[in-house]
Amino acid sequence: MTRDLVLSILKTRKGYVSGELISKELGLTRAAVSLAVKALRKDGYVILSSTKKGYLMKSAPDRLTSGELLTILGPERMRTVSVFDTVHSTNRVLSELAYDDPKDGQVVIADAQTGGRGRYGRSFYSPEECGIYLSCLFRPETPPSSSIPITAWTAVAVSRAVETVCGVQPGIKWVNDLILSGKKFGGILTEMSIEGESGRIRQIITGIGINVNNSPSSFPDELKNTATSLFAETGSTFSRAELACAVIRELDLLRKAWPDGQTEYLREYRARNITTNHTILLMDGSGRTASAESIGDDFSLKIRYPDGSAEKLTSGEISIRPVEEPERTG
Ligand code: BTN
Repeated sequence: MTRDLVLSILKTRKGYVSGELISKELGLTRAAVSLAVKALRKDGYVILSSTKKGYLMKSAPDRLTSGELLTILGPERMRTVSVFDTVHSTNRVLSELAYDDPKDGQVVIADAQTGGRGRYGRSFYSPEECGIYLSCLFRPETPPSSSIPITAWTAVAVSRAVETVCGVQPGIKWVNDLILSGKKFGGILTEMSIEGESGRIRQIITGIGINVNNSPSSFPDELKNTATSLFAETGSTFSRAELACAVIRELDLLRKAWPDGQTEYLREYRARNITTNHTILLMDGSGRTASAESIGDDFSLKIRYPDGSAEKLTSGEISIRPVEEPERTG
């Protein structure tokens, strides 16, 4: 914790900060400050020191740690944010943490996952030092059936954070895949638990995975054609702490806006949607294709089959078919 507080001071102050000032502000001995600086240097932070002027943060590595998040979010918000190096799955850790005392807005974030979960029982590739794996707990008052759009709202929230921090405009493939240049760089897994007796929502955990600084060649073969990262799309690396904090802030706004702010989230979801006006394949094993027509007011997907019949999908998995090239003649 001392380390986090010293980091927070060094990262937020311009110029040199004297050891005396740091120790006074934090109520620590000079020796404790010096030990914290030593630990930070060991972790890759380049901190200059001058006997007269004190310490200066020269450069910082891209770390997703409680110290980095504290610097941006402040101590109040950090009360319900838990940061880990490696966990099995942040969704699982959050649901265990929240078992006795689920707190609205509680967040679990990790540098790596060994059992990252995706939708439909798939795994989510979660290597260390390049991605964001974040879960947030939500306790809405709305009934379970009308809370399903929270996943779509979350896709909008994460897209906004990415746009603010990285300057790119993500598209959303229905329901909740985050897309750049036709490839997926992020996904959302929402898990809801309901009280058996009352039928009310006990908690919703939205788990967000973002490929941030992954190099394109680092993806496993089975993902190479479909996955991308913010680095691969822009050629720039981004501070994961900054992006994670932007996501947390957007999720806080989402919880405040729920459910009355529907119009704005729906408008933005429709604007970011990349699914309609394409032929889609239903990934339910039936092999059926359809044309994706529109996004309904409840974030459902209206599709039309080749025989002319229509259906409204409220959940499920689809794949967008590539646009067919016209046949070459002559
Ligand atoms: C998907 O695209 O299928 C959803 C992927 C969701 C991955 C995130 S990473 C953080 C959270 N913890 C998990 O185990 N999964 C979600």
